[in-house]
Amino acid sequence: MAVAPFKMQFDIGTIKHLGVQMYSTLPPVISELVSNAWDADAPRVEIVIPAQQITDGSELTVTDFGDGMSDSDIRNAYLIIGRDRRKEEGSEVTLGKHRPVIGRKGIGKFSAFGVANEIEIETVKGGQTSRFKMNYDELAKSAERREIYLPSLDPSGTVAKGTKVTLREIRKFRNRAIAIQALRRGLARRFSIIGAAYDFDVVINGQPITPQERDLKLLLDVDASGKRYIWEYDDIEVAPGTGWKVSGWIGASRRTVPLAEGIQQGISIMARGKLVQEPFFFQATTGQQYALAYLVGELTAEFVDGAEDGIGTTRNQLVWDTEANTALLEWGRKEVNKISRDWSEKRKLDNEAELAQNPLYVKFLQEAERFEDSHIKKTADNLIKKVIASNPLEDAKSQEPLVQMCLDFMEFDAFTELAKQLTDAELGNTDKLVGLFREWEIVEAKEMMRVTRGRITTIEKLQRLIDDNALEVPTLHQFLKEFPWVLDPRWTLIADEITYSQLLRDKFPEDSAVPEEDRRIDFLCVKEGNNLVVVEIKRPKSKASRKALEQIEEYVIFVRDYAKNTTDPELLVDEVTGYLLCGDLVDTTFARGKRQNLQDSKIYVRRYADLLAMVKKNHAEFLSRYDQLRKAKQSQNTPAAGN
Ligand SMILES: Nc1ncnc2c1ncn2[C@@H]1O[C@H](COP(=O)(O)OP(=O)(O)OP(=O)(O)O)[C@@H](O)[C@H]1O
Ligand SMILES: [Mg+2]
Repeated sequence: MAVAPFKMQFDIGTIKHLGVQMYSTLPPVISELVSNAWDADAPRVEIVIPAQQITDGSELTVTDFGDGMSDSDIRNAYLIIGRDRRKEEGSEVTLGKHRPVIGRKGIGKFSAFGVANEIEIETVKGGQTSRFKMNYDELAKSAERREIYLPSLDPSGTVAKGTKVTLREIRKFRNRAIAIQALRRGLARRFSIIGAAYDFDVVINGQPITPQERDLKLLLDVDASGKRYIWEYDDIEVAPGTGWKVSGWIGASRRTVPLAEGIQQGISIMARGKLVQEPFFFQATTGQQYALAYLVGELTAEFVDGAEDGIGTTRNQLVWDTEANTALLEWGRKEVNKISRDWSEKRKLDNEAELAQNPLYVKFLQEAERFEDSHIKKTADNLIKKVIASNPLEDAKSQEPLVQMCLDFMEFDAFTELAKQLTDAELGNTDKLVGLFREWEIVEAKEMMRVTRGRITTIEKLQRLIDDNALEVPTLHQFLKEFPWVLDPRWTLIADEITYSQLLRDKFPEDSAVPEEDRRIDFLCVKEGNNLVVVEIKRPKSKASRKALEQIEEYVIFVRDYAKNTTDPELLVDEVTGYLLCGDLVDTTFARGKRQNLQDSKIYVRRYADLLAMVKKNHAEFLSRYDQLRKAKQSQNTPAAGN
């Protein structure tokens, strides 16, 4: 007997807002499907991600072995947008396993539209199989009618129990491979209920996520006595007498964790086993701002998902206008401040303990011996300690250059002069000391030289790539992605680079009429402060024409519009500027005028040749400055030796 089609009433704006625009990366999307599996009392979820590049035919599946849905469950629950499951069913826990229900807003399923155009559901309950598809383009076509009939499809025969969700037309990752490791990490951090202890396995391409993968504590640093830098909380009330309690921990990691590893600094908040607040710092502004780069943590605060809904529609952030959440924020801010202080104090002592064993420091003390004036010795010692404490370092090895630098300082007559002038009170004020040395610019010059050496090599490589006209196209793109500073020293690569670049690639495929020589290599999106810079990289020997100028303008207009309308907080930017990186510009009145006009609206044309000249110049300055200082020091030492 044919089953009647499934009817869904919808508002396209809602779906766009809640699905398409809200999610730009895979972990939060898959998380919603995993949450649904948990709520369906599934013991296991199997996620299958293509290991190869995503093509038009690629599929991504999430299969759970939970309760599944009957025909009427689909009609009366699944397809009702905005249905509050906990309220409708009058239960905060699941029927079978009494799990705390995660679902609340009746919209999680649309997250998949953030990455895919089509979602297929196949589900089995009580021996009955239901299967249907939701296609975003189809929904958009029926937007005005505000309802759609989704045909009931025959069972595929691949689902015996539970629910299988298949994502197709995965436009977000087209022509790219999905970073599976990053997805594992992302999911691991988003749930605290994965693993045998919770009767809930999450398996990606055959490999279950292990509790170890969740264990961020493994990243934590240890103090001089071998104890972890960790602050733990066990049912602490955020404000007395409220019953609003948090548990969990905050700790300091061994090193500043790079985003690229999929581990984000900051403290996340969990409720009902799921992340409800992305890692953050409770808006703390501490005197030890650098400490924040080391803090990680995970706190559980069930009350944020209690009677009152304290979770934002973006699902990865709490709202701060409820009384309970405000109390939490206030509490967290104080804790983060306290921890930053405690940690940097503790760490300073630990570093000093480590320093005492450093052969270079021992050498420093010996050399200092030759200064008879104990005042000078003390000055030098204070300085070295201060320098080390204010440079959060990773190990003894990286302290060596600093110790060497202090030794160098002592060679300068000016140091002796300075030391003499300082009163005892000022001696303790090491900030002032370091400030004085900084004025000499030696600290910077030395640091610069280290950086410069690396940079010069990089620049030489860029020169070669340009000379070869970067025949191997991805090489130049990869290169610029790795070293965005060659384009502009203020630029840094952002985690969302891919999202923006992909948006542009999708929206503006290369016109096949463009001659090979003038083709685009790729886009690169970088951040400068809170601004986004869109760079179109052309071939090193390309010649930008009127069309190319109009195009970069169009890209920037598009991104400006997108950035203005996006609801994804990760994609918010204040301003968008553009760069066209090309070999040359055609020499016409129009092109010259257009270039000027574009410049007025913050869109710039930059030739490879200018780029090279500019970086070379910047770095040449570094080098010559250091050279001067070295010479100054030598000439100072020569007469001294003659004495
Ligand atoms: N894998 C699944 N197995 C069984 N039932 C499911 C599954 N996925 C969804 N459902 C049903 O469909 C409903 C709607 O799912 P959806 O994710 O949109 O909202 P929700 O989970 O209730 O709330 P939230 O918006 O917070 O995710 C769920 O409440 C549940 O009844
Ligand atoms: Mg859900």
